[in-house]
Amino acid sequence: MTFLEAMQGRFACKLYSEQKIQEADLLSILEYGRLTPTSFGLEMWSFHVVENQAMRKQLYHACFDQTSVLSAPLSIVTLSRPASFLHPDGKWVKGRGARFPGSLSDFVEDYRPYYNFLVEEGRLESWSRSQGYLAVANMMTGAAALGIQSCAIEGFDEDSVLSLLALDRQEWIVSMVIPFGYPAEPARPKIRASIKELVVRHR
Ligand SMILES: Cc1cc2nc3c(=O)[nH]c(=O)nc-3n(C[C@H](O)[C@H](O)[C@H](O)COP(=O)(O)O)c2cc1C
Repeated sequence: MTFLEAMQGRFACKLYSEQKIQEADLLSILEYGRLTPTSFGLEMWSFHVVENQAMRKQLYHACFDQTSVLSAPLSIVTLSRPASFLHPDGKWVKGRGARFPGSLSDFVEDYRPYYNFLVEEGRLESWSRSQGYLAVANMMTGAAALGIQSCAIEGFDEDSVLSLLALDRQEWIVSMVIPFGYPAEPARPKIRASIKELVVRHR
């Protein structure tokens, strides 16, 4: 399947069959997430795979009883680091920066002005949370290439999601919840504006 075919075949699936996702396919989907780039290469995320039946039901309630979450054999919750982790002089950023070639102080001084800008703009946590959206897009399209459908879910109660995963708001924020599985409903046709309407070219 080409990338375009996977994009065309993916749809926001709300009802899944009971068919389980093979371990190899799940690992591929997670790899698509892992290989996704992040700003400054910080990888401020974590992916929790919720397969346990009781936890799936809790997650369904935390997502305001959206049936996709209940019927899917698993959901991936994409988490991100809150503001307290993202300070350029903090231990966490230094740990991430130390992995790269070049000096750690160069990394930190490169990152610092952008961090200050995000803080001034009040965008630090939304910046962190939005990193997860790229991983989600790659996981969803990659899954579609394997015949697996999904649905991006932004409608969730963050405290409830963190609580069911036994995570602390001081350590993690929730980016998105994505149920994955095999569809038990027909694909919905794409409703999209035309390229002509969406694209402005400056030549
Ligand atoms: C960021 C984001 C958040 C979304 N949140 C929800 C959600 O909470 N519940 C839901 O049923 N669908 C949700 N969707 C699915 C969209 O409604 C759906 O992708 C869109 O209508 C386009 O349809 P398609 O994915 O079938 O092409 C979300 C999609 C995106 C991209």
